This record gives sequence, structure tokens and C-alpha cells, in this order.
Amino acid sequence: MAHLLLFILSLSIVIYSTFAVTLDGSLCLAKEQPELTLNEIAVRCPFAILLTRISWIRHPFMSSWDLVDVDRACAKQGQQALFGNLVAYHITSVTVQKPPKKQSSPRQREEKVRLRSRLERQRGRWNSHHPRYRLLDAIYGFSRYQEQNGVELRRWKTLYKHVSIPQKAMLEHVVYYSKKLEATEQLIRKNQNLCDMIVQNALRFYEVKQIELDQFIKDADTNKRKADRTSVSQALKHFVRDWASDGEHERKATFPCILRTLGTLFPQRAAEPGKHQRVLIPGAGLGRLGYDIAALGGFDVTINEWSMYMNVAYRVLETEEDLSPFTFHPFIDSWSHHATSADMQRAVSFPDRPLNTSSVVLVEGDFTTEFQTGHSDYDAIVTHFFIDTARNLMSYLETIHRTLRPGGYWINSGPLLYGSGPFVQLSLDEIILLSEALGFEFIETSPRCGEVTLSGKKVRSMSAIYGSNERALNINGYKVQFWVARKRLRNGDR
Ligand SMILES: C[S@@+](CC[C@H](N)C(=O)[O-])C[C@H]1O[C@@H](n2cnc3c(N)ncnc32)[C@H](O)[C@@H]1O
Repeated sequence: MAHLLLFILSLSIVIYSTFAVTLDGSLCLAKEQPELTLNEIAVRCPFAILLTRISWIRHPFMSSWDLVDVDRACAKQGQQALFGNLVAYHITSVTVQKPPKKQSSPRQREEKVRLRSRLERQRGRWNSHHPRYRLLDAIYGFSRYQEQNGVELRRWKTLYKHVSIPQKAMLEHVVYYSKKLEATEQLIRKNQNLCDMIVQNALRFYEVKQIELDQFIKDADTNKRKADRTSVSQALKHFVRDWASDGEHERKATFPCILRTLGTLFPQRAAEPGKHQRVLIPGAGLGRLGYDIAALGGFDVTINEWSMYMNVAYRVLETEEDLSPFTFHPFIDSWSHHATSADMQRAVSFPDRPLNTSSVVLVEGDFTTEFQTGHSDYDAIVTHFFIDTARNLMSYLETIHRTLRPGGYWINSGPLLYGSGPFVQLSLDEIILLSEALGFEFIETSPRCGEVTLSGKKVRSMSAIYGSNERALNINGYKVQFWVARKRLRNGDR
């Protein structure tokens, strides 16, 4: 009897080890050769598929996978592999470093005092333009991410019902269309985790009590005012453009030229704090350009942003102690232009590098009002994908001019894509003429910043894309206009 038990035990160990080694091999195979379908992996390692179906057998090395999602996705495909063709999932893992402990700088603390006072409910009229209203509205938007995207997903599910039964059978058999809808639902739920973090961080940072938010949401529900799905999505996608390695191709198009130009304009900048050159970036999005300029050393950077959706998202980067590894699925809310569903569903992590927040400060609000008075001493203003957002471009030009010190530089890099309802829509040559009339003098720039756009004018064109998915089948591209204009000295200026 004892011999029999010993024999059964040994046999079990051998079988389990065989299964385990095979599973490990198949998982490595899946990881190293993502182009293989699970069917192909199953042919090479048949036990793996069996194992993935026995949920209580966990392979001891599975935890070494970088992303928990990977084995879930593989297990799922393993089940599908038994039935037919597979839709291959290629999961991207992005290595993230832990950010250092965040400590606010004196400049940040000073700005926070100003911000707190601007956000007071009693200040000004309480309507949808009030800064606190806009803040609460943005927090409301992030708190309802899942709900709003769920509505859209349900609409897609309803539309799918229009497909005929034989067509549906083929869609289900060949590409598992319903599974894609289900997977998206799960990923929306996952994205809500990031949104919840943004909400909680915003409540803390802006010192908003949960009860105030609840009341705001209750009022919105009573008035049937929906949370803004688009603004939330745009802010989330900016984590990719600014802070993920998946956005590097966008940053690489224009950042090096701006950074090199600043280095050339201020070669002698002092290293000691207090003597730094002051740089302002209006319409900064989630602030990456500002951080890359600060990383050059010798610059105190002020970023400015009007959208509260951007600002509450940015505050997570600025103040959250432990961001990493935070992954989310930024591309699931639009199903157009994807080469594979796996590309669409892929996880992206941020930040791709730690943030040193000590030399960057965010001034929230409209550029033309926040910098109306008391700030006319910036050494450089960098407008990046910004000037065409103006309702009144003349006010932007005047504010840039007023905010620079005499002899200071305006560096522009961006398209001329006017939004809805601009008061004036100017062509490039008109912008040059008006800037010169306001007191700017365009200076020579490096040919490395592109070809000259208009003969005889010191403006160059660089190709750049904006806010797109690197793996998508469409390109949202521009001929970005790059120039450096110096604020002319007046008589008596030194
Ligand atoms: C096209 S995005 C570019 C963002 C960033 N510069 C980039 O390249 O990723 C323009 C940004 O300007 C902001 N913006 C628009 N009008 C603004 C204003 N009057 N003051 C400050 N920011 C503004 C928008 O909210 C938006 O984040």
C-alpha cells in the first residue's frame, strides 16, 4: 500500500513538473514571439492549453510575468484555442521607475495660496465659468468615466444587434466580436481605477470635501447634465502624449528643436536657484515640455493650463507619491484605425520617467487673464500647439509680448488649426506681420528645425503629429510652424 502511495505521489510530481515546464515554455514562447497565435503555441506545447483550463493549477513562475493581465489574456485565448481561430493579443509592457517622494517647492506653495483664493466659492458669480465650478465639473467627469463610456459601449452593442444571424455567427466564430465588447467593458472598468485615483487626489489637493462633490453631482443629475466624456478622454490620452514611451514619437518631432534653441539662446545661464532664466509655457497640457526644459538646468519653468480636466490629471503626476506602475488602456474608447484589436486594447504605463517637480510650477487658468498684470519678466515664452486655440489671437499675441521682458524670446512651435468660434483666423504671413507690428523681431533659427516655410521669412516647418496612437492606421499630422521672435528693446531698455 505504502509503495502504491509513493508511486502515485512520484507520478503526480513528474506529471505536474512536466506540465509546469511545458506551461512555462509556452508562456515564454508566447512572450518572445507575440506573432504566434495560441493555436500555434498549443501545437508546440499542447499541455499548456490543458493547464490554462484547470484554474487551480497555478504555475510557480507565472508571477514573474511583468503584467498580471498577460496570463489572464493568454489563459483566455487558451480556452478559445480549443474552439477555433484566435485573435492574437500582443501586450506591451512598459518599464516604469518609481518617482521620488514629492515635496512642494516654495514657488509651488506660493502659487497654491493664490489658487486656493481663486477657487473660493464666494469669489465672483457662481456659474459654469467659476473656477470652482469648472474644477468640480472636471472631477465629476472623471468620477463618471465608466458610466459615460458604458453608455457608448451599450450603443455599440445595440448597433451590433442589426447584424443578421448568419453574419453574427461568422463574426463570433472568426473574430469573437462579443468577446471584444466584453473585453472593452472590463478595460473601461480598469480605466476607472485611474480616474478614481485622479478624483481622490483632486479632492485632497484642492481641499474639496466629498459632500460638496456629491451635492454637485446630485445637482448635475437633477438637471440631467451629463459628465463630459470627451474632455476626460482627451486628458487621459495626454498621459500618453506627454508621459508614456508610446508618446515619444510625438515629443521627438518638436521637443529637441525647442530644447536646443533654448540652450543656444541662454548658453551662460546660472546654475544657482534664484538666478535661473524664467520660462513660461501657456497651454501646457500635462506639462512634459516644461519638465524637459527644467531638466536642462538653469531654468525656472512656469506652465499654465486652462482646462481643469488637464489640471486635475496633472496634479496626480505632481503630487501622487506612488504612481508606478500605473497602466491604463487609452485607446479603447474609439474603435477606428486599429491594425489589431490587441493594439487597441493594449496597456500603456506612465510616467516613463520620474518627475522632478521642484523647478516647475503650474498656474491654472486662462493665459490672457492670469498673466494680465505683474508677470512681465519672463526670459522666454514657449508656445507649443497653443496659439491656434485662441478665441482672440490678438489677445494671445499681446499677452505674450507684455509678459516677456524686453529682449526676451518667444519660441513658437505649432499648427494653425483654429477651433470653433475664433474671433479672428489669421494666416501665417498675417501672424508674422502683426507680431512685428506689436514689437517682435523674428530671428534666425537652425536649419535643423525644418525648411523655411515662406521665402524671406524666418519661420520653419516641421512635420509633427498630435495625440495619436503610434500603432494606429491614421496620422493626425501637421506642418508645425517654428519661429523665435525677440521682444524689441525700447529706448532706455538694457
Ligand atoms: C492643443 S493643446 C496642446 C497642449 C500641449 N501644449 C501639447 O502640445 O501637448 C492646447 C492646450 O491649450 C489649453 N488652452 C486653451 N486655451 C487656453 C488659455 N486661454 N489659457 C491657457 N491654456 C489654454 C488647452 O486646454 C489645451 O490643453
